Amino acid sequence: MSAFAYRDGVLSADGVPLDWVASSVGSPVYCYSGGAITTAYRAFEAAFDSRPETRGRTTICYAVKANGNLSVVSTLAALGAGCDIVSEGELRRALAAGVPPGRIVFSGVGKTRDEMAYALQAGIMQINVESAEELEALSRVATACGRTARVAIRVNPDVDAETHSKISTGQRHDKFGVAWDEAPGLFRRARKLPGIDLVGIAVHIGSQLIRLEPYRQAFRRIVELVHGLRADGVPIRRIDFGGGLGISYRGETPPDIDAYAGIIAEAVRGLDCDVVIEPGRRLVGPAGVLLTRVVRVKKTPERSFIIVDAAMNDLVRPAMYDAYHEFLPVRRPAPDAPAAEVDIVGPICESTDIFARDRLLPPVKEGDLLAIANAGAYGAVMSSEYNGRPLVPEVLLQDGTWKIVRRRPTWDEMLALEAPALDRER
Ligand code: LLP
Repeated sequence: MSAFAYRDGVLSADGVPLDWVASSVGSPVYCYSGGAITTAYRAFEAAFDSRPETRGRTTICYAVKANGNLSVVSTLAALGAGCDIVSEGELRRALAAGVPPGRIVFSGVGKTRDEMAYALQAGIMQINVESAEELEALSRVATACGRTARVAIRVNPDVDAETHSKISTGQRHDKFGVAWDEAPGLFRRARKLPGIDLVGIAVHIGSQLIRLEPYRQAFRRIVELVHGLRADGVPIRRIDFGGGLGISYRGETPPDIDAYAGIIAEAVRGLDCDVVIEPGRRLVGPAGVLLTRVVRVKKTPERSFIIVDAAMNDLVRPAMYDAYHEFLPVRRPAPDAPAAEVDIVGPICESTDIFARDRLLPPVKEGDLLAIANAGAYGAVMSSEYNGRPLVPEVLLQDGTWKIVRRRPTWDEMLALEAPALDRER
């Protein structure tokens, strides 16, 4: 059940009608439902708490990349979440939001030495290493700062996640993880290196997974590897199963969280090890909408264009991955309103600034407010100022009230980091 539903004819969430927010903050504006984030987190927690294999041994590390707004991360931190971070910037966000360092894992193929040092000084739970070269560098950095890095090695299981090729990460040709055949050697090497405490193994095969089967296959391979490593005398105390659980953008039926927990419980049965998961999209995607106003309805001999005030710089997913996002009128249309096929586009000077083609929409006119659904994940975080457009403000809805959690910058602020060219004599 979506947190966003019509109440008295107006799309609302957490007891807040969305037209209130837009008329006060302006548009476009991202709105996040605190209630929906909480419900989604609790569903993960309950699923992993209900099984003896995972109860009390699972750390839910929210993938900050999905939505790094401090209000979102701190909502999850207050519920007990840890974080999966991929940069010093995300680590700083997680710490600022109150996530204990002992619940933070650091993923990513290109951690710099400075980032490694910062993470070690913060004392985070685990660094997921993705190559032999990275392991050697981390050992040197840890030794230099007099710290020990708790390390998991991310293995590439060469499994097809059956998702969009741009968000698939667990196949042989992908840049992620250590190649299957090279993994055992690297684990053995990790045990010998100074400054490295090898704690576990990590895997992540992709994002927006709609079927559980690819997970089953990947996890089976990982468990096989764990048995082999242990037989070889390499202790593995923790398995990080990554993220990737999909959501319903267009009527898909994504796997339920309980069934996902079941697969992980099955994988670790008898292994006596701790579990980490790194969900991002599933926690925050359905919890967010991007509100946008119709700037103009433009009819050409060929088509009808609904030009809205949000654009690809605010929500890049349709332009970047051909992603589908549902559009909902904020004022509920009359049940007998005739729907027509329209193209919904932004104002940016690029042909790819199209949110939807041939979309059936009830009649809309200039000034109408629309909500772009499932925009809570990989929305605001991927935005830019392209075409001189200010970053969109963000609002958190909670318990009948709302709060601006990122304000719209002023025009002066947008220029403040830059400088004109040198003054030269002509
Ligand atoms: N862990 C790792 C190592 C990851 O690379 C990712 C996502 C996650 C966890 C979280 O995955 P999630 O549960 O959110 O699927 N911008 C794309 C998605 C990129 C995902 C990158 N990695 C999109 O808009 O679809």
